[in-house]
Amino acid sequence: MLPGCLLLTGLLRSASTASSAPRMPKNMGSWDKFTSSSCYSHSNNASSKARLTAKEQLDPLALIKDEVSEVTDRLRSMVVAEVPELTSAAGYFFSAGAEGKRTCPTVLLLMASAISMKISDGLENRSRARHMRVAEITEMIHISSLIHDDVLDDADTRRGMDSLNFTVGKKLAVLAGDFLLFRAFSAAVSLDNTEVVSLLATAVNNLVTGELMQMSITPAQRCSMDYYLQKTYYKTAALISNSCKAIAVITGQTAEIQALAYQYGRHLGIAYQLIDDILDFTGTTASLGKASLSDIHQGIVTAPILFAMEEFPELCEIVEQGFDDPSNVEIALKYLSKSQGIEKTRLLAAEHAKLAADAIDGLPESEDQVILNSRQALKDLTQKFMRRTK
Ligand SMILES: *[C@@H]1O[C@H](CO)[C@@H](O)[C@H](O)[C@H]1NC(C)=O
Ligand SMILES: *[C@@H]1O[C@H](CO)[C@@H](O)[C@H](O)[C@H]1NC(C)=O
Ligand SMILES: *[C@@H]1O[C@H](CO)[C@@H](O)[C@H](O)[C@H]1NC(C)=O
Repeated sequence: MLPGCLLLTGLLRSASTASSAPRMPKNMGSWDKFTSSSCYSHSNNASSKARLTAKEQLDPLALIKDEVSEVTDRLRSMVVAEVPELTSAAGYFFSAGAEGKRTCPTVLLLMASAISMKISDGLENRSRARHMRVAEITEMIHISSLIHDDVLDDADTRRGMDSLNFTVGKKLAVLAGDFLLFRAFSAAVSLDNTEVVSLLATAVNNLVTGELMQMSITPAQRCSMDYYLQKTYYKTAALISNSCKAIAVITGQTAEIQALAYQYGRHLGIAYQLIDDILDFTGTTASLGKASLSDIHQGIVTAPILFAMEEFPELCEIVEQGFDDPSNVEIALKYLSKSQGIEKTRLLAAEHAKLAADAIDGLPESEDQVILNSRQALKDLTQKFMRRTK
């Protein structure tokens, strides 16, 4: 690991509990906490490709790392606005050291390779460039949603640094998020494919809907697993699933392959969020195992509590009352510890991870080694997400 990458972890959940900590990192349903075995350096350039070792040549993450860096570099140049203040606000999370793990671009570029007909003619051709545009657009939409979420939730940290709202205030943060969305969609329009634009518009609509579902939840809906899973799909999985499909659409793949790409993104995203829900209760390596409990302190009911409620229906009454009263938090945690809530959540996550891997296995057979390696990397990601401890 490069030393700089340690700064990128972006998941420094505070070790203090939410009630005592005003600077409370939160469960965003974002993709920011993904840890990959390889870490992307910014210093990569074309000639570094030639220096890849034989082992790295078989490692698809190593194969795409230059491209992921290129996506990040382009993003920096894409978010230049007429007003310097807006440029620096919009570029806040694209600056060196603040880019996070770039999970979306990684997944999308691997997906592009995984469903390619044949990529032995090198990665630099025109359709590869269009895949990279989709990765950039998705990352801009992702960042704009993080910025807006931080305004809505009044969060003061993000990726282990001050949130944009904290740094520049909420007005400029809202405008920076708007500007990123605008840039994302003008880049999407220039791809000249209306279906891709429509998929990305659906993803943004879902992000907004998910946020509203959380905001306007009724007491009865708080006890519903279906409602919870729908909201989780909208907030965490809709962007990656629709973008994976966009990758397939833009290369003119069949409807069947488009659907498999979509399913992979959908199940990967849901599995990711379920593990996130568990870590909120069990603590992360960064918090030394101390639970941050940020969801429940914000009144957000997640899968472990919903499973506990199936075993102890009386818990529903507490959940309906909400968690403004700290003693309700205590009671819910007591029920959770008596229940199989954590284990059942892990099993559900494993089911989704398996469904994501199944989607990859459903792709048409190929003998191209690069394609096969990319598919394996996508399947490995599902397991990495399951083993995540931060
Ligand atoms: C690329 O990297 C090599 C080796 O680190 C360096 O010599 C070269 O100047 C770099 N090229 C560019 C365009 O940055
Ligand atoms: C680019 O790669 C695709 C397959 O991924 C291939 O069908 C296409 O012909 C290539 N285009 C060029 C210009 O080489
Ligand atoms: C967000 O910005 C506003 C000013 O626009 C400020 O009053 C508020 O405290 C900020 N919130 C956080 C969490 O930093």
